[in-house]
Amino acid sequence: MSGRLDGRVALITGSGGDIARATALRLAAEGARIVGTDIDAGLAEATARAVHEAGGEAETIALDLSEEAGAQRFADFAIERFGRIDALVNNAKAARGGSGESTSPEDWRFTIDRNLTMPWLVTRAALPALRESRGSVVFIASVSGASFGTGYPGNTANLVAYSTAKAGVLRLSVALANELGPDGIRVNTISPGVVETAATLRTYGAPGTARRELATRPSLLPQRIGSPKDIANGVLFLVSDDASWITGSDLRIDGGWFASGGAGPASAADTATLQVQVLER
Ligand SMILES: NC(=O)c1ccc[n+]([C@@H]2O[C@H](COP(=O)([O-])OP(=O)(O)OC[C@H]3O[C@@H](n4cnc5c(N)ncnc54)[C@H](O)[C@@H]3O)[C@@H](O)[C@H]2O)c1
Repeated sequence: MSGRLDGRVALITGSGGDIARATALRLAAEGARIVGTDIDAGLAEATARAVHEAGGEAETIALDLSEEAGAQRFADFAIERFGRIDALVNNAKAARGGSGESTSPEDWRFTIDRNLTMPWLVTRAALPALRESRGSVVFIASVSGASFGTGYPGNTANLVAYSTAKAGVLRLSVALANELGPDGIRVNTISPGVVETAATLRTYGAPGTARRELATRPSLLPQRIGSPKDIANGVLFLVSDDASWITGSDLRIDGGWFASGGAGPASAADTATLQVQVLER
């Protein structure tokens, strides 16, 4: 059976993370050869192993992509192994929390570096190969980069540097889409809502806890938190030919979080109250 990405080479940064692993498996199932990297060698190897076990092809290298040399090495490694780059998925991140006041300058720089500068460095290094393949780039941003809702702990008090960096990623993506469109390179973002990953577990705690409940409640589809596969499906779409006329776009995959303004679904009681207020005016 032929796959939608047969003959293509897809690079995934932070390949040891849960969203990256689901993406590697999804793209490989459609025929892509995967090149993954992570600062954590063990996690990156686990992803490559999962792809192999599923019958796909994957190469992996452990790198710190926040260094220019690491970003360049990643692109060079892909060319050495497979000779081309068709898709780049900028997924890696590391973040330190804090409010606008409590974040230390060191934590601010760390977080902006790992969420905004790092994906720019990797993209820059991959551009010559992407130009040859007329390939595409997907940045994994976040709903917290675009929303000013108050219902999401990460967006208000806790993760100001992270949200600010993700806002920068949205802008960077549009700038690159403009710059690279004439070369046939498409550039898009995906903005996930709260997705079930190891990072989410660390940040918001286990299902049933109050912090976790607060983080997931704003979804308009209340039955479940997002799954890494939900994000992987979006990446597959954006790097495939099905999206060949899509560039400079943001695909929100958030269970309707953004649409609710981060406030969550209105209850029947809320709706009834609002109707009464409208009638009274
Ligand atoms: N999980 C969510 O709910 C959620 C929500 C919105 C957006 N996102 C975004 O989705 C992406 C993946 O999220 P995740 O939850 O799987 O995160 P994660 O933290 O599990 O994975 C990120 C990976 O990046 C790697 N990494 C960190 N610094 C690196 C460096 N300097 N060089 C190379 N690799 C490095 C980490 O080791 C890790 O394996 C991130 O961009 C994140 O901001 C996630």
